[in-house]
Amino acid sequence: MGIVTTLRSVLKFRRYDSDRVRRHLAVAADVEDVRALARRHLPRGVFDYVDGASEGEVTMNRNRAAYANVEFRPRVLRDVSAVDMTTTVLGRTTPMPVVLAPTGFTRSVHPDGERAVARAAAAAGLPYAISTLATCSIEDVAAASDAVPWAGGEMRRLWFQVYMWRDRGLVASMLDRAALCGYEAIVLTVDTAVSGHRERDIRRGFDLPPQLGLDTVIDGARHPRWAWSFMRGGPIEFANVAGAELPDKPPSMSINEYAGRQFDAGVTWEAVEWLRSVWDGPIVIKGIQSVADAVIAADAGIDAIVVSNHGGRQLDYSPATLELLPHVVEAVDGRCEVMVDGGVRRGSDVVKAVCLGASAVLVGRAHLYGLGAGGERGVTHVVDLLRSGIERNMALLGVTSVGQLGPDHVAWRTRP
Ligand code: FNR
Repeated sequence: MGIVTTLRSVLKFRRYDSDRVRRHLAVAADVEDVRALARRHLPRGVFDYVDGASEGEVTMNRNRAAYANVEFRPRVLRDVSAVDMTTTVLGRTTPMPVVLAPTGFTRSVHPDGERAVARAAAAAGLPYAISTLATCSIEDVAAASDAVPWAGGEMRRLWFQVYMWRDRGLVASMLDRAALCGYEAIVLTVDTAVSGHRERDIRRGFDLPPQLGLDTVIDGARHPRWAWSFMRGGPIEFANVAGAELPDKPPSMSINEYAGRQFDAGVTWEAVEWLRSVWDGPIVIKGIQSVADAVIAADAGIDAIVVSNHGGRQLDYSPATLELLPHVVEAVDGRCEVMVDGGVRRGSDVVKAVCLGASAVLVGRAHLYGLGAGGERGVTHVVDLLRSGIERNMALLGVTSVGQLGPDHVAWRTRP
């Protein structure tokens, strides 16, 4: 009888909670509102892990400020009754120029983690890159994506983000698994030679995965939904690097610290050649922060680059990505595709990036805020906000296709 009563209250709580999430998301008018919901639902340590950046967070703020510094140059009285947001990314049709960015430890934010993001991405027909540090396996993410009707162009699109670990055999085996599961491309992240200094995490004593200590219990009591899912969701671990493959990890060392030590700080452009020998499909390099490196990547025949500073989470005082973008686009001169990320929160941001030459933007924190605010439904809400924002801003600019967007539609208010 006791068990039945408990089950009933749990089910009642879940129904109430699900209705509450729906109500809250219905009035979340922009990503900032979704961020506020995530802040309310997540323990402070988890929220700050997502929201924070390295050192003084100057680069993160500049990434954002760069979008505010770009003004539109609209044209009027053009027939905008049908706006087509379709474009191509890595040569394939995509419903809009948006890709969901790789993020590690995603199950800290919601127990469904990368699976929820993959479902939302598939339902919207968008590419999603899962991280080497994903907390759901390559296979689970592929299955989650397969379980949802695909809303995109020719084929389902999952990308696998690669960190070069010292143990290249481990990297090669992950790439084999990704290939077997039909992943479309790999994304080599190159801005993490060493880990960034995330001061919010240090001040909160926050480590990954979150540990069940006194702080977590107190914080969990204030965030019952998160605490409940954290407890029932099973341990948070690097799903692609099973525990058995970490024989040299001292028990006292967190898995996050251990992973940091496995990154190969000695890695060079030679790694790109090596990747080509073990991966047949497209290769994207993410974390380009200079024109010179963009040119090297283009010369090396890379399919695409992402102008990125990891959302300001690595080298603080690296250039704001939107400001660097047009210089990179000019220098590579069409030899490879150029994407950008960092600070994208609105459809208008996506439109500005495309005007300045990006084929697409990657979106990191925005989708994680959605995940924290309401799981898969929250990610979908963020994607919907971006989609309606892109469509509306294109119409108000007087353009009806992505191909028409160009530098004439924007101007810097103050020269960067
Ligand atoms: C990231 N990012 C990231 N990038 C990557 O290549 N591998 C990874 O494992 C992670 N992990 C990660 C965790 C969290 C919590 C965040 C917020 C970001 C960087 C990410 O892919 C992307 O470059 C930035 O998030 C883009 O900036 P915005 O959109 O968050 O402003």
